[in-house]
Amino acid sequence: MKNKSLISINDYSKEELLKILKTAEEFEANPRQKILSNHVIASLFFEPSTRTRLSFESAINQLGGRVIGFSDSSSTSVKKGESLRDTIETVSLYSDLIVMRHPIEGSARFASEINDTPIINAGDGANQHPTQCLLDLYSIQKTQGTLDNLDIAFVGDLKYGRTVHSLVIAMSMFKNTRFHLISPVELKLPRSVKDFIIESGLSYTQYTDISDVMEFVDILYMTRIQAERFADPMEYEKVKNSYILNNAMLNGSKDNLRILHPLPRVNEIDEDVDSNKKAYYFQQARNGVYVRQALLATILGLR
Ligand code: CP
Repeated sequence: MKNKSLISINDYSKEELLKILKTAEEFEANPRQKILSNHVIASLFFEPSTRTRLSFESAINQLGGRVIGFSDSSSTSVKKGESLRDTIETVSLYSDLIVMRHPIEGSARFASEINDTPIINAGDGANQHPTQCLLDLYSIQKTQGTLDNLDIAFVGDLKYGRTVHSLVIAMSMFKNTRFHLISPVELKLPRSVKDFIIESGLSYTQYTDISDVMEFVDILYMTRIQAERFADPMEYEKVKNSYILNNAMLNGSKDNLRILHPLPRVNEIDEDVDSNKKAYYFQQARNGVYVRQALLATILGLR
């Protein structure tokens, strides 16, 4: 896996994903090993981020590496009209690996084809978010003790939610996953992602009401309606508060149920849920440091 870019979650086999999760356990036990002291990582965020950018930067700093980059491309020569190709060509001269987030689907793939510097896709438009997927898998395995035989409900914006697309594809690799897809009719999971479920010999059920699944699911994966992806703001207004989870709605749910959310949340989980033992979204965000350490160490040939 040395020098292997991660653009879509299915760029890595199931065995490779499991190897990253195993390595992440090592970093969770010991996150401050100075193994990156000879490395420079570029962090290029053309779109806003809190968790992905800062957990990458924390992961690198804790491992003794150096970070260069930007969190706002308007402060770079992109503002003067520089192409993505030229930005990537240039940054690859200054770094050993590039982490990038960009609003255009396919931009990370394009960057990975320009030269040999490995690229990690930190989110490309509504397409994929494979490192979020790794921490989601890690969180599911940690809370359920397995990645097989699970009932997992995805709730909210399944059309534009890139974290959903990556996680559905990844969970299609595991035995007997049962997918429960809960969304407004306008925001159903794209056909291209559903095809991964079908081609894996698995099945899914679509719902519009969250209460239909509450009694039997193991994982409730809540998502934000992605306002920034709507071409027409009026369409967003129609669906923006479709699902708001509160504590009372969790009555009768399984003991092992854990609520995940890639965050940021807007209104979709009431703060009264935060103190419920089934709420796992902040621990989930912390797991991002360990899986990103594992991924960086693996791609740089240090694990
Ligand atoms: N989960 C996630 O991608 O969060 P940020 O947008 O804050 O990075």
